[in-house]
Amino acid sequence: MIKFTVTSTKGGVGKTTLTANLGALLADMGLRVLLIDADVQPSLSKYFPLAVAKPAAGLTEVIVRGTVTKSCITATLYQNLDIVISDDPEGNLPHWLLNRIDRGFRLRFALQSPAVVEAYDCVLIDTQGAIGPLQDAAVLAADILVSPITPEILSAREFRDGTMELLDRLEPGGALGASLGPMKAVIYRQDRSADARIIASGIREDFIKLKGRAAVLETVVPHAKAYKEAATLRVPVHRHERKRDGPTPSAYTVMHQLAWELIPSLEGVFADLLPRREAQGE
Ligand SMILES: Nc1ncnc2c1ncn2[C@@H]1O[C@H](COP(=O)(O)OP(=O)(O)O)[C@@H](O)[C@H]1O
Ligand SMILES: [Mg+2]
Repeated sequence: MIKFTVTSTKGGVGKTTLTANLGALLADMGLRVLLIDADVQPSLSKYFPLAVAKPAAGLTEVIVRGTVTKSCITATLYQNLDIVISDDPEGNLPHWLLNRIDRGFRLRFALQSPAVVEAYDCVLIDTQGAIGPLQDAAVLAADILVSPITPEILSAREFRDGTMELLDRLEPGGALGASLGPMKAVIYRQDRSADARIIASGIREDFIKLKGRAAVLETVVPHAKAYKEAATLRVPVHRHERKRDGPTPSAYTVMHQLAWELIPSLEGVFADLLPRREAQGE
């Protein structure tokens, strides 16, 4: 089982879109995928249609009980794709966690439950764009951190400084004394302007200076309306835009490249368009 946490110290960069679409692609490639919505604003929980109208439990139970049971997991209408929904609209969980000595590891240990280890090949955790105990727990639960970064100057700076802070704070010897997964940055929502290209290459240079603490992936996710359209339609973007004319590669191509780069053993595996599941009780 491999666990990814999609994180960034900045909001609105594409974390939820990336988590949802990567998860759905891996599910269509045949992996059993569990999404975890660790954002108190439940965008990922609403991204794909769920198989039940009212999930029995979600993230609150996972964190508070420190274990994942089947009742915490909800099926989406896509095969191989399930989710632990965010059910903490008042944002109590971060406060609750703050008082726990094991706050950094609570999610990591919970993900060792049989309901996860025996049933899934891949876990993808979406996070909120704010520093706090829930973000820390999500970061510390990952084997690999994925961080979308938009190539415009302010967000590039914020990313470099914010990422360094995060790594310094959570790395061994830091306050929580934990081991952190490698960080893979994805240049995200790149448009075709010269400015974006210059900043993207600046980001790559900055990362060389981070000396192996973080790397920038080759795959670049372009700015394209397909990602928004697919979110509105609640379908995975690789299904929504399979082909595309012009210089910008299709979402199908981009998402496959990204999956292959993150999980090299999948290289050459393509998505099957599996039939949707039946909704229950409708
Ligand atoms: N590749 C893309 N091209 C254009 N717009 C995108 C792309 N990916 C995401 N978006 C849009 O950007 C906005 C923010 O994305 P979201 O995933 O919600 O960010 P975050 O979770 O980091 O706050 C959404 O409106 C989304 O539809
Ligand atoms: Mg989000």
